[in-house]
Amino acid sequence: MAKLRIVKMGDDTLRKVCRPVDAVTPRIVTLLDDMIETMREADGCGLAAPQVGVLRRIAVVEVEPGEVYELINPRIIAYAGEQREQEGCLSIPGRWGITKRPKHVTVRAMNRKGEIYEVSGSDLLARAFCHEIDHLDGKLFVDDLVEELDAE
Ligand code: NI
Repeated sequence: MAKLRIVKMGDDTLRKVCRPVDAVTPRIVTLLDDMIETMREADGCGLAAPQVGVLRRIAVVEVEPGEVYELINPRIIAYAGEQREQEGCLSIPGRWGITKRPKHVTVRAMNRKGEIYEVSGSDLLARAFCHEIDHLDGKLFVDDLVEELDAE
């Protein structure tokens, strides 16, 4: 496994719409492993492929330690409720803000075996799914803040 460089805001890569994955290749499995390692090293709870310079629809989320979701071609298929909570991003160090997100979401995605699965999450997990899927469409959490919070 290898730690990857995280692209920071200002880089065009973060503003591109990523391409879907047709098939899970060994290269994509390696990318997933590297993304998980990179996310953990950076102490993040999610990371999207464009953040490591790869314009494909791939993200990883780990809100509870050890409970990793690998999201290939993820799509939010249901959502409910609303939450306004704090968010940050590994590509935007030092900035925090309050976002408006659904309280519950259900995501359909493919895993590293090429299997389609669905996962539902609430609160922080729902925020993380929304945040990472936004990255795949070139959106950043600071685009639509309810409130900017003071830098640390
Ligand atoms: Ni982010």
